[in-house]
Amino acid sequence: MKILGPDLLVFGVDHVPACCEFLIEYGLTPVGVTDQGGRFEAMDGTGVLILSSDDPSLPPALSSGNTIRETIYGVQDAQTLEAVGRELSKDREVRRAADGSLHCTDDLGFAIAFQVTVRKPYAAAATLTNAPGSPPQRGPNQVAVDPDAQIRPRTLSHVVFFVPDAARMEAFYHRLGFRVTDRFTGTGAFMRPEGNADHHALFFIQTPPFMQGCEHFAFHLGGPSDVIQAGSRLVAKGYQSYWGPGRHIFGSNWFWYFNSPMGVHVEYDADMDLHDDAWTPREATIGADASQLFLMQHREKWSPGGPPPA
Ligand SMILES: [Fe+2]
Repeated sequence: MKILGPDLLVFGVDHVPACCEFLIEYGLTPVGVTDQGGRFEAMDGTGVLILSSDDPSLPPALSSGNTIRETIYGVQDAQTLEAVGRELSKDREVRRAADGSLHCTDDLGFAIAFQVTVRKPYAAAATLTNAPGSPPQRGPNQVAVDPDAQIRPRTLSHVVFFVPDAARMEAFYHRLGFRVTDRFTGTGAFMRPEGNADHHALFFIQTPPFMQGCEHFAFHLGGPSDVIQAGSRLVAKGYQSYWGPGRHIFGSNWFWYFNSPMGVHVEYDADMDLHDDAWTPREATIGADASQLFLMQHREKWSPGGPPPA
C-alpha cells in the first residue's frame, strides 16, 4: 500500500493565536487562517491544521489532554485509498467524509485518516557544498550564505507518538505497509511507509498511558545550515530550544527541537537517510550516545575582540 506519510496533523488547542504565530515564525505558510485558526503549509502542501480545542469539527481529544486530534496520511492514488479502506474495514468502522477521505481510529485510539495525497511537486534548491577531493558544487563567486534567506519547510517529514503499547502500534502500521527501519530496544520502532524511502515517517516511544499523544513532528529543510539558521531565528524570537542543534544517528538527520504553544515539540530536520527493502534494521538501547552523533547548543552571537556574553 503506497502510503506516502502524514499529509496533515490536526491539533485542537487552547491558545489559537499563539500557535498560529509560532507556526508562521517556524516558516510554514498560513492558508485561510483566521482568529479561529487554520492551515499552515510547507512547500509541497503538507502541513498542520490548528483549531480551537472546542471546535465541533475536531475528533475527540485524547484522555491525556495531548493536543493532537488527528493524523491524516496521504496515499499515492485512489486505488491505494480503497485498499486502505478495505483493510481497515475488516475490524473497525471506517467513515468516508464528503471530500472522499477515510477516517477511523488506530489500535490505540488515535484518530487517523487517509486521503489521496495533497503532496505536489515543487522546486527548491539543494544545499551545495564545496568538498576538496570532489568536484565543486558551487562555482566561483557563488556564495553559500545569505543572512536574509527565506527558509521554508519543504515537506512534512515525520511524527512521533508517546504510546502505551509500542508493539501494538508497530503491528497496526505494519498492516498498512509500514516497515521497520531501526528500533530502540524496549522503546519503539522507526517506521517508513511503502511510498516513501525516508528513514522514518513514524516513531513510537513506549510510555505510561497517561502520556499518550504526539511528542513531536518535524518538517524537512534544505540542509543543516538551514536547520541552524532557522533555529537561531526562533531562539531570537524568544522560543525555547528543547534539544539541538545536533545530528541523529538513526536516520542521520540533523535536528533542532523547540517547545511550542501546542504543547508538543516541533523539530526542524534535514538530510535524512533513505532506505529500501535491502536494508537490515538496526537495534540499539536508547540513550545519549545512541540518540545523536553530536550535540551543539545555541548561544548569543559574539566575536573575538570582546568577551563572549555571560
Ligand atoms: Fe524527529
